[in-house]
Amino acid sequence: MSRSAHPAGPRHADVLPEGHPSAPPADLNHLDRKVWASTVTRTPDGVVSVGGVEVTRLAEEFGTPAYLLDETDFRERARAWRTAFGPDADVFYAGKAFLSRAVVRWLHEEGLNLDVCSGGELTTALSAGMPADRIAFHGNNKSVDEIETAIRTGVGRIVLDSFQEIVRVAHIAQSLGKRQRVQIRITVGVEAHTHEFIATAHEDQKFGIPLAGGQAAEAVRRALQLDGLELIGIHSHIGSQIFDMSGFEVAAHRVVGLLKDIRDEHGVELPEIDLGGGLGIAYTSADDPREPHEIAKALTEIVSRECEGAKLRTPRISVEPGRAIVGPTAFTLYEVGTIKPLDGLRTYVSVDGGMSDNIRTALYDAEYSVALVSRTSEAAPMLVRVVGKHCESGDIVVKDAFLPADLAPGDLIAVPATGAYCRSMASNYNHALRPPVVAVRDGEARVIVRRETEEDLLRLDVG
Ligand code: LLP
Repeated sequence: MSRSAHPAGPRHADVLPEGHPSAPPADLNHLDRKVWASTVTRTPDGVVSVGGVEVTRLAEEFGTPAYLLDETDFRERARAWRTAFGPDADVFYAGKAFLSRAVVRWLHEEGLNLDVCSGGELTTALSAGMPADRIAFHGNNKSVDEIETAIRTGVGRIVLDSFQEIVRVAHIAQSLGKRQRVQIRITVGVEAHTHEFIATAHEDQKFGIPLAGGQAAEAVRRALQLDGLELIGIHSHIGSQIFDMSGFEVAAHRVVGLLKDIRDEHGVELPEIDLGGGLGIAYTSADDPREPHEIAKALTEIVSRECEGAKLRTPRISVEPGRAIVGPTAFTLYEVGTIKPLDGLRTYVSVDGGMSDNIRTALYDAEYSVALVSRTSEAAPMLVRVVGKHCESGDIVVKDAFLPADLAPGDLIAVPATGAYCRSMASNYNHALRPPVVAVRDGEARVIVRRETEEDLLRLDVG
């Protein structure tokens, strides 16, 4: 996942080689700007604050664990993507990374569009006032109900994912007396350099229609014949947490190749291409993500160059960043509970959450960093593993990190870069109560997703 190297061999801080990514940082109190949201800072009294509010106050008011989301940073990132791509392109925020009504309103205000992949995400988006024509609907197995709702409410595009779906969407649109704007998602056969579970453009997987063997061309042929569909473009999403632009380059080359074949066969120049999301963020200091303007420049140049070569008009580009917008904007605040030093190994630091609020470490071997945020400390670094409170030894939040040796129960620690795919993949394992999301901005904090309660759990248990 993250490109940070795994510590191998020596386990003690004092024997780790210098310059090794897992060697203790020179100053444990320092907050690396790369991984923390933009307004996070350490106040003169040593407490970390976000949006001008100290984490000690936030913990008191909202409890722990909690996801603290820096609204200013979210808006700045959303705006940076929008500005970088300019008026001739569209930025669809991928709601699966994290979606709530407040987030939908921020996106709307900042001029972004929205990618949803379920009826639940669509309902959330519409209920918060996102205009339907700025929504793209994704998914490899959309239900008839979802398709009907999407068409009825007027979503801007449905991204078709299979031959069966081409027919299904066309049929439903026609029965509703509509012509639905659609894209076809293809798999371009690129091996994205990321974890296997989140790589999506190789052929042996469930998403999209393979370019190989002429299948994508056949899908286009069928879609163009159906009255219920208006084919507006081709979609490709190659994976997630990607740093290397070469995968996008190959994808763009192949998508444009298909556009050219379509022009040659049907005399139609499709007006849009969507290159998906997947841009990586810094989870630890070892990661070096690109800025939106660099990504926009690289992608638009690649597409224009390919189109020029194919003598095609350059289509309107869209992208679907999720993690790159919301990921860095939030951190998870935990209270330290049991601390268990294991001689010759490491110290296990248990927190009041775990794999139910961040499954990514267990699921993808993801790497995170951690800091003591309720005070500073001059104590020596100790090698720790931050673990949760679940009944499972794989319940790890941060595999290897350093915290000060005087860490004590009751201290607050925070794991940065948890804005994406943490709350959205949170579970009730062991009947854990999913933490709230608290948005902080200009000295004010407000709950945008409240903490679950035991009543919430019992309400669903109707036996
Ligand atoms: N567009 C499509 C069609 C997608 O499938 C995805 C992510 C995105 C955009 C947004 O990708 P992003 O920019 O956020 O990387 N749970 C995994 C990630 C799964 C991503 C699924 N699709 C994780 O925690 O890393």
